[in-house]
Amino acid sequence: MVTLATDATLGLTNLDDEITVDELELEGELPQWLGGSLLRTGPARWDLGEQTVNHWFDGLAMLHRFTIDGGRVSYANRFLRTKAFEGAKDGTVSYREFATDPCRSAFQRVASLFDPGSTDNANVNVAKIMGKWVALTETPLAVAFDPETLATLGVTKIPATTGGLAHPHGDGAKAMSMGVHMTGRPAYRLIEDDRVVAKLPVRRPAYIHSFAMTERYAVLIEHPYTVNPISIPLSNKPFIEHFEWRPQDGTRFVVIDRHSGRHVGDWRGDPFFVFHNVNAFEDGEDIVIDLCAYENAEIVPALGLARLRAGEPIPKAYLERFRLRAGGAVERTRLSEESLELPRIDYGRVNTKPYRYVWGTGAHSDFVDTIVKVDVTTGETRTWSDGYPGEPVYVGRPGRDEEDDGVLLSVVLEPERGASSMVVLDAATLTELARARVPHHIPFGFHGQFSRA
Ligand SMILES: [Fe+2]
Repeated sequence: MVTLATDATLGLTNLDDEITVDELELEGELPQWLGGSLLRTGPARWDLGEQTVNHWFDGLAMLHRFTIDGGRVSYANRFLRTKAFEGAKDGTVSYREFATDPCRSAFQRVASLFDPGSTDNANVNVAKIMGKWVALTETPLAVAFDPETLATLGVTKIPATTGGLAHPHGDGAKAMSMGVHMTGRPAYRLIEDDRVVAKLPVRRPAYIHSFAMTERYAVLIEHPYTVNPISIPLSNKPFIEHFEWRPQDGTRFVVIDRHSGRHVGDWRGDPFFVFHNVNAFEDGEDIVIDLCAYENAEIVPALGLARLRAGEPIPKAYLERFRLRAGGAVERTRLSEESLELPRIDYGRVNTKPYRYVWGTGAHSDFVDTIVKVDVTTGETRTWSDGYPGEPVYVGRPGRDEEDDGVLLSVVLEPERGASSMVVLDAATLTELARARVPHHIPFGFHGQFSRA
């Protein structure tokens, strides 16, 4: 039995039940225009029996669906039926996860050089790519699923996902992604649909979780958290523990023309660490990139499961703007003093363009306990705090003129009830409009998308 140090750690305990609820208990009123499904993925089982995984990121993937229809909300949750899920039935990890390795003999490690057997434990994000809903993790294996039943349809070959990034850009039909090719001659790759647009050799690749995109450019933010890839395959250390924080290397902004694949150039700036890009755009000759910046890579071990379950504080990220000047200078500005992670924007309308609003999660205590809205043009910041909210997914009102005319959907852990709800906030004011109560807790997850009815 796991001992919980704080009430937030309920979000880091296994959820075993899979349920379907036709109508959740609803408080408040949903906007009449709002219809569709919030689809989310996240880890839901960390204690496998004999083995407990090392990191928040390594729990077995579960899908969640909240469907809003005619003022009512239904809910379902299902584990992804993957090789990783089946393999864990013996109580141990079967594939190399982010920070947890299966126990392997020297012979098995050598054998895995020829069949790396990437994990398909797709607990990071969901996306609609080339018409298919897939769950993604940081390997080339995208797992297709039925958005209604949440049934697993199996690993699917979607070329744009082969880079191993769980944050592709795209509009549901086309997709653009980046990847780090670690074997053979290591290289960064920019991929559009089934075409490798650019391939840039790199000696020490960085850990890359997302990338920035403007109308003309793709920008890879190579923070100084890098690896010598030769060290990975044969070792018995988990994947991420091979990466080293080398602040003396600074951060390189690698700019690629995303249409021709030409390497336009590199800009160099101070060291920082980033998981999530927010938005980027061109401003005359400058490239403007907004992202959630950490001081260093300490966030990676800080999200280790034992540390989180012990209630240890986690480093905070801040919304920062990096302006790449034509002459090579990089200007850095903090846009808000509220911490901000798991950022969302009015993606369909403002991605790659000048824009105004970012929503995300923030922390006033030792864990994520706040939803934050920032006006990037003025720095004006609003917050909403209650329980432990997850990523706020923005859904715009059809026909809107204002960028914040819509709602935010966030799964909030309510510690006093020992369960979670989907909370609906007014995206402009952060006023709570409605709350749909789920009968169980939903383990803290990462990302979701809204599929309109
Ligand atoms: Fe992410």
